Amino acid sequence: MTENGGILKVAMPKGRIYKQASKLFREAGLPIPEDFDDSRRLIIPVPEAGMEFIMAKPVDVPTYVEYGVADIGVVGKDVMMEEAKDVYELLDLGIARCRMSVIGLPDWKPVIHPRVATKYPKVASQYFREHGQQVEVIKLNGSIELAPLIGLADRIVDMVETGQTLRENGLVEMKEMFQVTSRLIANRVSYRMKNAAIQSLCDRLSAVIPAQGGV
Ligand code: PRP
Repeated sequence: MTENGGILKVAMPKGRIYKQASKLFREAGLPIPEDFDDSRRLIIPVPEAGMEFIMAKPVDVPTYVEYGVADIGVVGKDVMMEEAKDVYELLDLGIARCRMSVIGLPDWKPVIHPRVATKYPKVASQYFREHGQQVEVIKLNGSIELAPLIGLADRIVDMVETGQTLRENGLVEMKEMFQVTSRLIANRVSYRMKNAAIQSLCDRLSAVIPAQGGV
């Protein structure tokens, strides 16, 4: 329980981050039942830890936290940068490590106004603006690697984890833009009102964050 008698509401991203995030929370001593991992339930109370988990689409986690319907959340740095929500970033959890990169076909030739397909239009626009390159950014919602293969875009901006998707589709990483890991974020009001509970969670997580992560 938190100091004001409330429950700490935690927005967890469904999908690829969840497995690593739930492992980290368990290592930190939080009793997340094993059957959560296969459950389709969206709200999962863990009263013995004074917590409630909200299972969210990853891109929506910062929105739940900004509006305060979740006190804290776990979210990738990629989503944080694209969504640019008004939340506190408390911890680099050091999990779901990958990179945001500019990707293209190996025989790509420069054109005047290249088209760039991405799930991250703000991140991509800012990157090319800062590099003095005029591009047309095309927003897609998945399978971004298709775009250069079928002639929709000259380049893409996307996440690379193992590199397998690039290899299997004959694409190359032209430039690494930045490293991505998952972060613990907090609602600004919750951070004050539930400070002891949030701080205690941060301390527990900090103790088990994998090497190369950090505060
Ligand atoms: C992500 C990303 C790449 C892939 C990179 O896609 O957009 O396509 O993973 O991983 P790799 O380097 O290990 O191959 P995701 O699986 O999330 O699906 P999406 O295509 O719907 O974005």
